[in-house]
This record gives sequence, structure tokens and C-alpha cells, in this order.
Amino acid sequence: MRISVIGCGYLGAVHAASMAELGHQVVGVDVDRRKVTALCEGRAPFYEPDFPELLRHSLGSGRLSFSTEVADAAEADVHFLCVGTPQKHGEYAADLHFVQAAAESLLEVLRPGQLVVGKSTVPVGTAAELAAMFAEKVPGALLAWNPEFLREGFAVRDTLHPDRLVYGLPAGEDGAAVERMLDEVYAPIVERGTPKVTTDYATAEMVKTAANSFLATKISFINAMAELCEATGADVKQLADAIGYDDRIGRKFLNAGLGFGGGCLPKDIRAFMARAGELGADQALTFLREVDNINMRRRIRMVELAREVLDGSLLGKRVAVLGAAFKPDSDDIRDSPALNVAAQLQLQGAVVRVTDPAAVENSRREWPHLDYADTPEEAADRADAVLVLTEWRQYREIDPVAFGDVVASKRVLDGRNALDREAWTAAGWTYRALGRRAG
Ligand code: UDX
Repeated sequence: MRISVIGCGYLGAVHAASMAELGHQVVGVDVDRRKVTALCEGRAPFYEPDFPELLRHSLGSGRLSFSTEVADAAEADVHFLCVGTPQKHGEYAADLHFVQAAAESLLEVLRPGQLVVGKSTVPVGTAAELAAMFAEKVPGALLAWNPEFLREGFAVRDTLHPDRLVYGLPAGEDGAAVERMLDEVYAPIVERGTPKVTTDYATAEMVKTAANSFLATKISFINAMAELCEATGADVKQLADAIGYDDRIGRKFLNAGLGFGGGCLPKDIRAFMARAGELGADQALTFLREVDNINMRRRIRMVELAREVLDGSLLGKRVAVLGAAFKPDSDDIRDSPALNVAAQLQLQGAVVRVTDPAAVENSRREWPHLDYADTPEEAADRADAVLVLTEWRQYREIDPVAFGDVVASKRVLDGRNALDREAWTAAGWTYRALGRRAG
């Protein structure tokens, strides 16, 4: 099939290269000339394992190209909308101006029989509005909503091997036609028996926000338990293991620590609350406010713990922060708990040095007042405390014995419950973590 992907950020670029990998002829369109140039040259504009290889392979096959001109999407049978829906400035609601701009630009080329497939995370009701606009301006054009569940760090795998496909379809005969087109797009994925759920637009839109709300709730649940563990002396890691053995609960997403950040979970739960409010159903989601509160409290607690460990004052203390990305295997620093904590420590007088294997460049741009180091050793040089705030493999594998020679004082705070407590304490470190007794 001929496919266009409008918006070549994180989601769109991976989607475009993956569709080419599935055998389609794909053009990715983005207004950002620098991004398009990089992609055309086979350079990934963001850090994502396996993506550079996939990109170069797809470009090499001749099935993938990128352009700044929507006119180059004119011949596509299927147009994927993959633009971002960030949080509005100063509000909880999602900012839909990229979606609107992309849909309007598509009107320049869209023809009857072509299918527009929304992948962006949008407030419920958006697809119906877009469908009405297309019906008026290009009668006979079709629309589907097909949310994307990819995780950063696993984007390629999640796109090519998703857990499920969700098709939000128009009613009636159009629905059957659209389903056939989507099955053709995803043929290798459908044929291997991947579960598929066909729904109306509203359900498909809600599947995404409901899934992210559930994941955020699960993380905040275990972090609320961590607060109680701190109050009682219990151990949240053992608690998570023990409750996680119940398959109704499951161990995944029960890692207590600094909580969730990134470009999805925080803004998605807020946009969901805002939309529920507009629909007069805000009571249904008041619990998400608590989920958000618990999450933000972890950052404050981390700073308090640092102060406690540093004998009650942060002033003039040298603190190494290992990790800036919101999670490992990513250079994404949007709503990063690690950087938030680093900035708070600095504001309270600590001398903070931040390091990260992939996110220093982005951090320097967005957080220019922080100090950065290239390696953990450099960040921890003569440090009074080391904080591990993003659980990169490189940090989990640090040898606590050798690392002890670098610092002024062997105090480590494990913000992600990711280090081997026994190994660090055996090497003479004071080990502290959220939701666990002092080691
Ligand atoms: C999330 C969803 O997982 C994905 O399905 C959706 O498409 C986009 O949003 P992502 O933001 O890439 O993906 O990261 P995810 O792996 O979900 O982690 C989100 C945050 O939660 C990270 O900051 C992570 O550190 C934190 N987290 C995750 C925890 O604090 N504890 C956990 O147990 C799991």
C-alpha cells in the first residue's frame, strides 16, 4: 500500500519506518526541515534503541522517504496522523493545535476513498469532530482511530509486535471497508494472531487514555504503599514482589521510586480529567488527581531524603545526580522526575552535577542552570552523596567498591530501587531508598 505519515516525531518516525519494514511504500511528512533532513540522511533525531538500524534499512529498501511537503502525500491510500498532543500551557487540557493543523493540511491532498488514521492520543470526541470535517470538505474520505501504545525505549518492538490492535471505525458499511484497509496495512501483524478489538471512535480514543490512567494508577498505588512503608519501617520492594505474584495484580509497573514522568502519562491523565470535566463527568476521575499528587510528592520526598542523609542541610553539599532522562533507554527529558529533583536540590543550595548516558544534550538546552558531567565518575567526584534517579543499566552495574574511591562520602540514594542494596552496603555505603529502611 501507499502510506503517508503526517508528523515525524517520536511516534511518527518510528511508525513510518515500521510501515516500510512491513512492505509498504511510505512517505513521512513533517514541517520541521531539520528533522526531515536528518531522517532522509538516516540519522535518528532522538535516542531510541533499534530505530537507527530500522531507519537505515527502510531507507535502503527504497520504500521510505521523508518530505516537508504534504503534496508528497497526495498519492497515499492511507494517511496516518502522528502529531503530538502536549498539555496546554497553564491548563490540564490537551493542546490540539497540531492535530488541527495536520488535518487541515491533509485537506489539500485528501481524496474520496483515501483513509485517514488517527494515532495521536486525543480527548474523546476528537475523531467524531474530524470525521464531520472530512465529510463536509471531502465527501467519501474515510477516518479511523487507531491508538498507539508504544513505550519509549521499546518503540520499534512495540510497533512491529504490538500486544493488540485497536481499530475505532465509522458506523455501517464504511466501517467494514476501513477494517479491511487496516487489516491490509497491518497484514503481517494481523496474520500472526495479534488480538484485535474493533470499536467506535469514542471507545478507541478512550482505550488509550484508560490504559495510561491505569498504568499511572498502578505506579502511584505502589508509591502510596512506599509512603506507608516509610512510616512503618516496612519494605516496599518485598511488598511489590509479594503482591505481584498474584496474577490478578501482576509485578509489572509496581516499581516504587521517583514515579512517572515523560511525555505521556502525566499529560494524558491530566487531559483525561479535563475532558471528563467538559463532559460533566469529572467525579469519575477525581481519583486521578490523587494519582498525580502521590506522584509529585515522591519528588519532594526524594529531596527531603537527600537532606536527611546530608545531616539536615543541603547548603554547599556536593551532590551527584545519575540520570536525567525520564526513564532509561531514552533521551526524553519531558517532565523528568530526575531533573525536577536535581533542580530542587540546586535551589536549596546543593552543588549538583548531573550525568546521563543519552540525555545531557537535551538537558543542557532545557535546564541550562544545572551543571553536567560526561560520566558518573566525573559527576561523583568528591561528592557528599550520589543519587541514582534514572535506572540506566550502566548505573545498576556500577561497582560500588571502585566507585567509593571517587566520592568524598559514601552515601547513595536509590531513587528507583534499582541498585543491589547488599552489594552497596557491603562496600561501605550508606544506602537509602524510597519506601525501604536504611541499609
Ligand atoms: C507510556 C505507556 O507505557 C505507553 O503504553 C504509552 O503509549 C505511552 O506512555 P512511556 O511514557 O514510554 O510509555 O514510558 P513507561 O515505560 O510507561 O514509563 C512511564 C514512567 O513511569 C517512567 O517515568 C517510568 O520511570 C515510570 N515507572 C514505570 C515507574 O515509576 N514505575 C514502574 O513500575 C514503571
